[in-house]
Formats: sequence, structure tokens, C-alpha cells
Amino acid sequence: MPDGTFYVTTPIYYVNDIPHIGHSYTSIACDVLARYHRLCGRDVHFLTGTDEHGIKVQRAAEANNETPIQLANRVVERSKSLWQRLNISNDDFIRTTQQRHEKVVQLVFQKLHDVGALVLGDYSGWYCASCENFLTEDELADGNCPDCGKKAEWASEPTYFFKMSEYGGRLLAHLDQHPEFVRPQVRFNEVYSRVKEGLRDVSVTRSSLKWGVPLPFDTGHVVYVWIDALVNYISALGYPDGELYEKFWPADVHIIGKDIIWFHAVIWPCILMALDLPLPKTVFAHGWWTNTGEKMSKSKGNFVDPVAMTDRYGADAYRYFLLREMPFGQDGDFSETALVGRINNDLGNDLGNLLHRTLTMIEKYCDGVVPHIDVGALDLGQRSQELLDVYHSRMRDVEFSRALEAIWELIRSGNQWVEKSKPWKLAKVPEKEADLGAVLCALAATLRVASVMLWPFMPKKTEKLREQLGLCGEPDSFDSDGVFTNLQPGTRVAKGEPLFPRIQE
Ligand code: MSP
Repeated sequence: MPDGTFYVTTPIYYVNDIPHIGHSYTSIACDVLARYHRLCGRDVHFLTGTDEHGIKVQRAAEANNETPIQLANRVVERSKSLWQRLNISNDDFIRTTQQRHEKVVQLVFQKLHDVGALVLGDYSGWYCASCENFLTEDELADGNCPDCGKKAEWASEPTYFFKMSEYGGRLLAHLDQHPEFVRPQVRFNEVYSRVKEGLRDVSVTRSSLKWGVPLPFDTGHVVYVWIDALVNYISALGYPDGELYEKFWPADVHIIGKDIIWFHAVIWPCILMALDLPLPKTVFAHGWWTNTGEKMSKSKGNFVDPVAMTDRYGADAYRYFLLREMPFGQDGDFSETALVGRINNDLGNDLGNLLHRTLTMIEKYCDGVVPHIDVGALDLGQRSQELLDVYHSRMRDVEFSRALEAIWELIRSGNQWVEKSKPWKLAKVPEKEADLGAVLCALAATLRVASVMLWPFMPKKTEKLREQLGLCGEPDSFDSDGVFTNLQPGTRVAKGEPLFPRIQE
């Protein structure tokens, strides 16, 4: 397996409100990637954090009668506890109010100023406080923000513009040479055609606001919250001379939602070009969840709450559902009925059943010890190798739902193998003892290979499954656990509670 490094990031989440399904989706996706690449033997750095400045957070704090930092401190605790509950294995958590971050934002602005990439002017135009986004007259829909639907506000203030118009040609050339820079393809096409039309300069400081990082060379301004936020991807690594920066930049992938693609795939790379820094390798934009067909919004109060879902169904089932139900990159609909269906069918009937019958038969026919037989040549062994290869290629392509399909093909092959080989019949014929042993050994091997593939998605349940199979909970690597024939002699199974008890629909 390849080694090397892998740097993956979530967007940093606004602290105006507590995290909902959308935030948990991005974080779970990043966590699965981080765990997968660690299992492949790579040195992984997984970053998440919070975006704490700007008008939106300031107003939310005012509405709560608290200071922005009080609000931020409160929400940060809620976020961290949600990430723990969901078993998010981030290596770092950056807050934009930390000094380590603010000083890098100031350094970045000083550099942009020094290279002549900034110009002082006046901004007069529309602003969406909810998206923290400058909007042109043409972009408005009936005076409202085209993304969130909230009323746009008129802003008129002195500002520094970043001369983004100068970087359009270079960005277009980069897109031409790096079709993997923006994914999936539909987002690439969208970005490409807009960049081709030419880029406008963008306002990057605000003089009507106090809650932000002060500009080092003009204290009448704070840094525009979006640029402040984007810098987190390098400030957390200790840019300009941190060891982590040397080791992990450029990022392998920024995972984001499709609504924030312009900031990540256009503005951020142009800033990096102005600083003469390498660009991230890929910006991957996932789709949006609706709730039983409806867009989720604060006013409708219909945000799916990850805490309630994990209380009811457990973190692993929730993680599995989100990544299995909608292909990564497309939009999809959340419904509790569909979640329960997946738990009962995929997790209970397919996976749970294969585990249960395998363990029961090993206990019944082999005194609980997995027969140690070379089963590499069996169909099931070959199938497992093929499906593991398919899985790897889909994981590298960030195709979570299809990678899970490959695992389920293996699980179904295991169940079909039971039907076909009828171990209960073999057990009745003393001369067939070796055949029976091979069948049971192959089933245990199938579950072991499936478990290492599954672990990035459902770490806790998979660890329990592995313990029942007599293995150590956390898999070590694909090199050892992914090999069908790699069984330790004398492995003793320990059947336990069903992993996914049936849920009443
Ligand atoms: N603070 C900025 C990101 C700065 S990154 C340098 C931000 N924060 S956010 O809290 O509003 O949103 C974070 C992520 O949640 C976005 O990627 C967004 O796409 C995602 N989602 C918000 N609602 C969502 C759904 N309903 N479905 C899926 N993801 C959604 O933007």
C-alpha cells in the first residue's frame, strides 16, 4: 500500500447556531476519508474548526444578549461534543479567534498589500449577512439572496479590493491542466464557465464592522470574514514556517458543500496565487440534504438534529445512512423511514445476519474456534480480493456510496455462500468435516475483510463485530486485515449482542 501524507479539511462552521445535519454530513465524510487513508498507511492530518467572526455571528450574539466570544465559546463546546459523539477523529480544531490564526491572517494581508494585490476603494452594493456574501444587482432574486432567500442589505463603505481580475487567466489555465481540481464534474463545469467569463475584483475588508481581524496596515478595517476563514487551512498548519505546513500543504482535499464552491475553487486559489503558494489538489463539493422533500431552514424549524438521530439510532447507523443513501456530490432527501429501512435491511438483515449465522455455526460445529484452513483458492476468497480492489478505487475517487455497495456485494456473496454450501448438511456427514471447516473459515475471512473495509464508515460497531470474530477491535491495516487468508490459528469467536437489533418501522 502507498504511504505518504494526506491532508483533509472540513469547512469551518459558523458559530451563530449549533451544528445540524449538513455540518455533520461534511464532518462524517472527512472522517471516513481520514480513517481510510490512515488504514492505507498514510500520515493523515484532518482539520476542522469554527468560523467565529463577521456580521452574522455578531448579530446572533446581540440577539442572545451576549458578546460574540461568549456565543462562540458556547457553540464551540456543543460542536466539539457532537464531533465526539459522532466519533470524528480530527487531529486539530481551529478557531478563527485564536491568536495562532489571527496572526497568520494579518501576515497574509500584509503580504497581499506588499505585493500590490490590494487596492483601496469604495464598495457600494448588496450584501447577504446570512451567507456573508457580496451580491450584484443581477444576482438578486426579488431583492433577496439567491442562495438563502433572505433579504439582501445595501452596503456602502470604504474597502480594500483584492485584484482578483488579474488571476482569472492563470486560474483557467490551472483548471485546464487539472481537471481534478474541482469535483464532481458538474461543479467543475460550473466553475470553469464562470471563470472563463472573467473575474471581478473582490472586496476583502470591511470598515463598517468591528468583529473581525484588524488589518495590520489600516486599523479602520477588519478582514472580510470569508478571507479570514479560508486562511484557516494554512494557519492551522503554522504557515509560513510550521513543520505541519511543510509536511501537509497543499491539502489533498477540501471537502465542502456546493453552496460555498466559489469561495473555495475561485477566491481561495487566487489568494494563494497572489501569495505564490501551491493550490490545494482538489476541492470536492457535496450536495444538499432536504428533509422529507423540503429545504431545511431555521424559519421552518425543520433541521434534522444529529444529536436526536444518534440518540435514537446510534452514531454508526447515522454515519452509514448519510453516506449510503445519497451519492456524494448529489442532493438527497433525509427521511427517518429510509434510515430505519437501511438499519433493518442493510445492517440487520445482510450484515447482522451474516455475522450471526457464521458465529453460531462456528460455535456449534467447531467449539467456537475458527478452523484454520487455506481458503485462498475458494470463489469467496477471489471475490473478496476483487471487491476490495473495487472498493479502493471508489474510496480514492471519494465515491462513498459506491464503496459501500462493494462491501455489500461481499456481504451478500457471504450470505449466498451459506445458502449454497449448506453447512448444516455438511455437519451431518463425518467425511465432510474438512469441507465444513473450509466453509466456516471462508465466512469468517469474508467478515474480516468486510470489517476492515467498513471500519472507516462505522468504527464503533465494526470494532464490536471484530471482537465477536475474535479479532482486535481496531483494524491495523489493509495489508494485514484485508488479506483473505490472513487468519491466526486458534482464533476464538465470542458471539455477543446483535449489533443492529430490528427497529419497529
Ligand atoms: N463558515 C463557512 C465556511 C468557511 S470555510 C473556510 C460556512 N459555514 S456553515 O456553517 O454555514 O456551513 C458549513 C457547511 O455546511 C457548508 O459546506 C454547507 O454546504 C453545509 N450545509 C449546510 N446545510 C446543508 C444541508 N442542508 N445539506 C448538506 N450540507 C449543508 O459556510
